[in-house]
Amino acid sequence: MPPFTTSAPGVRPSTFRFRCIACGDLSDRAAQNFRCSHCGDLLEIIYPSFKDAVPHEANLKSIWTSTWKDRRLSQSPIDQSGVWRFRELLPSLDNNDQAITLREGNTPLYDLPHCARITGVTRLSAKHQGLNPTGSFKDAGMTVAATFARLAGFRWVACASTGNTSASMAAYAARGGMRSLVLVPEGKISWSKLSQSLDYGAVTCQLRTDFDGCLRLLQELVLRAPVYQLNSINPFRLEGQKTLALELLEQLDWQPPDHIIVPGGNLGNSSAIGKALLEMRELGLIPRLPKLSVIQAEGANALVRTLREAGGKCLVNVQAETRATAIRIGNPASWRKAVHVLEATGGACEQVSEVAIAQAKAEIGAEGIGCEPASAVTLAGLKKLVKQGFVKPEESVVLVLTGNLLKDPDFTMEFHRGDLFKDGVDEKASSALSPLRHPPIILDATLDAVIRTLEQAEKGQAEKS
Ligand code: F0G
Repeated sequence: MPPFTTSAPGVRPSTFRFRCIACGDLSDRAAQNFRCSHCGDLLEIIYPSFKDAVPHEANLKSIWTSTWKDRRLSQSPIDQSGVWRFRELLPSLDNNDQAITLREGNTPLYDLPHCARITGVTRLSAKHQGLNPTGSFKDAGMTVAATFARLAGFRWVACASTGNTSASMAAYAARGGMRSLVLVPEGKISWSKLSQSLDYGAVTCQLRTDFDGCLRLLQELVLRAPVYQLNSINPFRLEGQKTLALELLEQLDWQPPDHIIVPGGNLGNSSAIGKALLEMRELGLIPRLPKLSVIQAEGANALVRTLREAGGKCLVNVQAETRATAIRIGNPASWRKAVHVLEATGGACEQVSEVAIAQAKAEIGAEGIGCEPASAVTLAGLKKLVKQGFVKPEESVVLVLTGNLLKDPDFTMEFHRGDLFKDGVDEKASSALSPLRHPPIILDATLDAVIRTLEQAEKGQAEKS
């Protein structure tokens, strides 16, 4: 009989408070738009009980880490969740049945030997959050935020999205018996993501604006209607997303890698991972901090410009444009949180071109892993960081792959057919991309034709190597 564990012995439930990231105001309640009632900035969740935990850190580390591991063998839904099994570091529930879970998290950490060779680092791996129930990292945050939406008594939840948040929110709302309202930019998100929210029963509105316009509208809506907002402005989302880092460190036997690299859009995920790292160090779970770096698409580079042009002091927003539609965001809500974690961990912030994203995505695909375009910015960014000397060849690097390959089949098909870049690409880009293309081949249904194709493929392979 596997052990059935519900809470770590000797550990108090993690009571929490909201703290404004700008003025530091503390409160037990948050307004419906999750903004500080004094200065209007974002809130974060803090755990005053962590202070009591620190003096016992040596003991706590062994109690917590073995409890978290044991829960993987339990049959209880909350223990099977790769998010809630870390619940000592999450806002506490009164009872375990309250959690809305699709058994999210527990995602694999894969070696990337081929990509390691390409980039010139020896130890490269990928934490694949695209293997979550709805195909993206959003599920880790959504299980926590949807749970607290239902506990707060809301019938309706809502989000603005580039597609993954909405897919995830719609699924968790359906599982939790709530209705969901999705606001997405018309024509700017992939059909596979849109189709998910339709299937999960969301009221799906395609607005004639961009993501930033959708989010602006949502922030006004939640002040006028009894709707609970589930964007990453909602600090419960970030608490759930924190567990990516806990699980990663568990997979690495609590030995931090030198670098973690994450894509940046609305900047909730980088903020969540950074918060987890800082809390883990505070609690003595890890001896040092990895450097957390954020990579953006050149056409959606608000954080890059905020750091370079404004020293991280005020947001430089941009008119976003990129085929990596998940991160087509020009006015990232969590920019201040992201600047803080970059500074605290000593990470870098870089931007990568559309060609570099397409190339990196195909290279990750060629490892048998695959991801959506937004996730591939991590590998493209790593190449730049190695060239700049920021990442050293002997250092260990983890890329966070945020979305599944199947999230954006149009991008993948257009890439392999050679028509992703409508205006063409220069010779250098073309020679980098061509060997990575594997377009479908239409043949007569004869054995000869198939054998000929096989022989040609074999010959092509021999010429390449
Ligand atoms: N990767 C993927 C696949 C995403 O869907 C997103 C964001 C990001 C990276 C960036 O993460 O916003 O936390 O910095 N997608 C949001 C959405 C905005 O609506 O699905 P971030």
